[in-house]
Amino acid sequence: MDLDTLCRRLPKAELHLHIEGTFEPELMFAIAARNGLRIPYGSVEEVRAAYEFDDLQSFLDIYYQGASVLLTEQDFHDLAWAYLQRAAADGVGHAEIFFDPQTHTDRGVAFETVLDGLWSALRRAEHELGMSSALILCFLRHLSPEAAMATLEQALPHRDRIVGVGLDSSERGRPPSLFREVFDRARAAGFRAVAHAGEEGPPAYVSEALDLLHVARVDHGVRAIEDEALMQRLVDDGVPLTVCPLSNVKLRVFDTLADHVLGRMLARGVRVTVNSDDPAYFGGYVAENFARTAEALHLGHAELATLAKNSFEASFLPPERIRQLCDEVDRFVAAHRES
Ligand code: HPA
Ligand code: ZN
Repeated sequence: MDLDTLCRRLPKAELHLHIEGTFEPELMFAIAARNGLRIPYGSVEEVRAAYEFDDLQSFLDIYYQGASVLLTEQDFHDLAWAYLQRAAADGVGHAEIFFDPQTHTDRGVAFETVLDGLWSALRRAEHELGMSSALILCFLRHLSPEAAMATLEQALPHRDRIVGVGLDSSERGRPPSLFREVFDRARAAGFRAVAHAGEEGPPAYVSEALDLLHVARVDHGVRAIEDEALMQRLVDDGVPLTVCPLSNVKLRVFDTLADHVLGRMLARGVRVTVNSDDPAYFGGYVAENFARTAEALHLGHAELATLAKNSFEASFLPPERIRQLCDEVDRFVAAHRES
């Protein structure tokens, strides 16, 4: 079996995926047209050609612009359903999906419109694709902690449909400490906690996310490599990192995949996982991230199995289900031994 097929069939969970980042230009045009909105591009090719980024902010500017055509419950359903089908084809048995309610509520779209549309797609994936999934509400860190608190208030009545809270958007100059109170409140209400840290921000933001926000896993976290004491802590405490290799290269966190720290972190014993982040913008869904990273960093079947099992172990699934899924990975790898 070739590497791409192996990486597609390998059972895995996806834990770092922004649903607004799965908005493919074809669907963007279709939804803009039915909502009577215009986007500042003439064709799908023109949209794709605009996806040249210098850093996180240059990406976010285009990402928020794309999301601005989403208005109705059907729009959010169609967006999530398109992702879920692609994920299932990529061997994803379970997905924990980020959504950014403030991107929509600030434009006058109701919180419930967003949530109901996404939720119906998740239920459909369970029935039609046999795939489990969950939603994680991300607070936009370029906005105020008060705005995050107001968003949490909107989410409280829907606690049964949202597994956790996260923190995304522009990282530089927006340390996790700003959001301590809203994370305290969210955890007290039963939400699990995750946060983007150490993508563009310094290793100290990873430590803050752990110490102040008490996150169960860190999204990205790759700049932890710059701090040896922090690296040791991640190993000792088994802190999962949801790493997104193609995203990191596209946003110039690393020059090439061959320069990526994932291989070194894995060898060091950090619980790293592979994810696609915003695959419509970064040139590959999760199986592509696995295959291109394995190729560039010379990862073998043992490393691929570890990455896949890490993805289930780092998920918010019940322990019994995690064991079953990890056994599936072992059986899959045993049946496809390296020649
Ligand atoms: N980093 C921060 N915020 C984001 C990202 C990301 O990679 N994708 C979507 N929002
Ligand atoms: Zn992200």
